[in-house]
Parts: sequence; C-alpha cells; structure tokens
Amino acid sequence: MNILILGGGGREHALAWAIKQNPKCDRLIVAPGNAGIAEIAECAQINIMNGASVAVFVEENSIDFVVIGPEAPLVAGVADVLRNGGILTFGPSAAAARLEASKAFTKEICAACGAPTAAAVPFTDLDAALAHVRAKGAPIVIKADGLAAGKGVTVAMKIDEAVDALHQIFADTPDAAPGAAPGAAPDAAVVIEEFMTGEEASFFVLCDGQTTLPIGTAQDHKRAYDNDTGPNTGGMGAYSPAPVLTEAIQAQAMETIIRPTLAEMARRGAPYQGVLYAGLMIEDGTARLVEYNVRFGDPECQVLMMRLGAQVLDLLLACATGRLEEARVNWADDHALTVVMAANGYPAAPETGSTIKGVEELPDTSLQTVFHAGTARQDGALIATGGRVLSVTARADTLAKARDRAYEMVERIDWPGGFCRSDIGWRALAP
Ligand code: AMP
Ligand code: GLY
Repeated sequence: MNILILGGGGREHALAWAIKQNPKCDRLIVAPGNAGIAEIAECAQINIMNGASVAVFVEENSIDFVVIGPEAPLVAGVADVLRNGGILTFGPSAAAARLEASKAFTKEICAACGAPTAAAVPFTDLDAALAHVRAKGAPIVIKADGLAAGKGVTVAMKIDEAVDALHQIFADTPDAAPGAAPGAAPDAAVVIEEFMTGEEASFFVLCDGQTTLPIGTAQDHKRAYDNDTGPNTGGMGAYSPAPVLTEAIQAQAMETIIRPTLAEMARRGAPYQGVLYAGLMIEDGTARLVEYNVRFGDPECQVLMMRLGAQVLDLLLACATGRLEEARVNWADDHALTVVMAANGYPAAPETGSTIKGVEELPDTSLQTVFHAGTARQDGALIATGGRVLSVTARADTLAKARDRAYEMVERIDWPGGFCRSDIGWRALAP
C-alpha cells in the first residue's frame, strides 16, 4: 500500500520509521519531511494545510492511506476534506480537533461528562479576568485560548505574573481571541484555571469513533535545562512507559476521563477518530485531566514508535477503518528513552545553519536510532535548520539501559551548535 504522512518533525520521522518496517507498506511519502526522513522515504512539497492540495497529490500518486502528524492541519479540517473525498485517513475531524484547539471547549466537554480536571472560568473581557485573578489569588494558571501560537500557558506562582500574562494576551489581540486556528471560532480569549499539584504524565489512546485502545504512556521534560529549570519548550526528552501511570490509574483515567469525553463528542455529532493524547496530573493515586492533544506528542511519539515498531501501521489502519475492536497491541516488556538535541538558543532564538557530524556513523537498529526534526542536507553535510533538531532514541529491557544507550549515542554526535539535557529520565530513575 502507498502511504502519505503529513509533517516533518521528529514525530513524523518516528512514525515513518515504524510504518516503513511493516511489509504492507510499499511506498512511503512524507510531506514535507526532513533530511532524516529522506533516508527512509520520499519527501514531497505539498501545502499540508490545504485539504484540496493534499487530495490532488493523493490522487496523482495513488496513495491508499494518509496519516496526519501535526495539529494544525487537523484543526484546519484537512482530515474532513480527505475523508469526504473517500480517502482513508488517520486523524480527527476539525470538529473533534477542537479538543486541542480550544481549551474553553475542552472544559465545557469535561463539565458535561463529569471528567475530573482543574476548575476553570473562561473570559472574553480583561477587567473581568483581572478581577477573577485578584479574587482567587496565586498560584493560578492563565491559558490563552486557541492553539498556543507561542503564548500558551502561564503557571503564575505570584499574582503579578498572572496580571502580566493577562495584559499581554489582551494587548496582542484586542478584538479576537489569540491563537485562534483558521476557521475555528474560539470560545474565549482566556481560560483561568485552578493550579493543580502532582506528577504529570501522558496517556495515548486510539479511538475509531466507537472503540478505544490504549497504546502507551510516556513522560516528557518540558523545561529547557537540567533539573527542570529554564524556559518551557516543546519537550526536551521523554521515556515510555511512565511508571507513575500504573495499570490502576490508567483504568481510572479510561473510566472517568477518556471514555466519557469520547462518548460526549459522539453524542454531539463529532465522533473522535485518531489518537487522543491526554496530559494527566496524578496525585494521591488519581488522575485529573490537564489538557488534550489530538495527535501524538513530540517527543513522546519517538519513544512510543520505538516500542511498538511495525505493528503501528496495523493499529492506525484498524483505527481509520473502524475496526479497532479486533486490534490488539503486542506489548514487549521494554523501555524506550529519547534525548532531544536542540540548536543553541532554543527555545527563544535558535541558531540555524550549524553543521552536525557523527550521526551517520551511529548504529541504526530496532534498539537505537536518531530521529531528525529540524535538519537539512547541504552539499552532503547535515545542517541544523530549526529549534529541536535530533531525537536520540534507544530501547532496552530496563529504563537505565535505554538511557545509557541513548546518551552513548549523544556523546558520539559532534555538534558544538547544539545542546541537550543530561538528566532525561531522572524522575523514573530516582532511587
Ligand atoms: P497545557 O498547554 O494546558 O498542557 O499546559 C502546559 C503546561 O502547563 C502543562 O503541561 C502543565 O505543566 C502546566 N499546567 C497547565 N494547567 C495546569 C494546572 N491547572 N495546574 C498546574 N499546572 C498546569
Ligand atoms: N511534548 C508535548 C507535545 O507534543 O505537546
């Protein structure tokens, strides 16, 4: 079968790597792809935000299955256009993608189905929002509604930080909610939330509109530097499984959060088809929802793909064809860990154009590989083109061994223009 993956980050390289191992995959195209993806698949330039352009490409290239990686095309309705055109597609509709596109919408769904989450109030008016923050006090969480668009979330430990965040959100877009995705009307400018304490973990569940199938847990490292210091990033490393998400807590999350949400979405005429990524806060043996994403996490996808391997294609196909009921995950008793290497200056101002050496010499097996994100080839040399550049990923029978294997590879990468954290996995590996 001919398969098209939309996206060009570490997540899509990992998806391509796993899908390519399945004998059902004859031809694999990734748009736009990157230098690492180009070694295992064809890369194509299409406007992945435009469903009609993707549909034309699918027709011309006899594509049988489209996998959508990032949230932006999902929120823009690319999956709807493809499915309406009879094209087999993995990824939720624009209506279902509102679970990521609008935090106010997600809160409304949680309230309707009783899913435990932080208490939250949406605001469209700055003065009302300021009054609410002053009445509640700190710590308090301020979230710009809509796709984050670089602003996102402020966890304010002091009132002043909350006030500053509100002023900034309203100053940037006085007339409309910030970060609004094209075509998706935002529900509020800002959502103000109760601060939750606990340990965060990510839970990934496939849904075909009816049936659900958990496909793994992971923990991300959001801060740029060691000991969870420095600015927030897209994620500097991850591992799977996340020991904090025990079988019992996963069952509770399925029972009280995931299934009620999906039932509520179906009831509203927006059944969910794709992977639902639940960010959970775990405290006292109970999970509460922090947020939903409507796609795989990056870098969480890299560790999930390394653990699941070739069967991923069968699972995604079962999901897209409504046959998840028949699907089973073939679990191995293993652990995967990925270390993200980012360009110096990331996340504020990553320096691009530096040369990376040594990646080609590293072993590339089912136990270890380097996924690329922001890379390109220039006269044969590997060049950094973006913020997060490489995901150095390994698998082993223990997390400690997976970590050691990943850092051995990091040591052998010669890249003065980049940096990484040296403590990925610390939480799960702490004595
Ligand atoms: P979000 O984009 O909603 O996932 O928020 C980004 C990050 O902010 C989360 O991963 C948490 O670390 C933190 N966060 C979000 N909401 C809360 C909350 N209600 N209480 C504490 N931390 C939060
Ligand atoms: N690693 C966090 C995310 O993909 O949203």
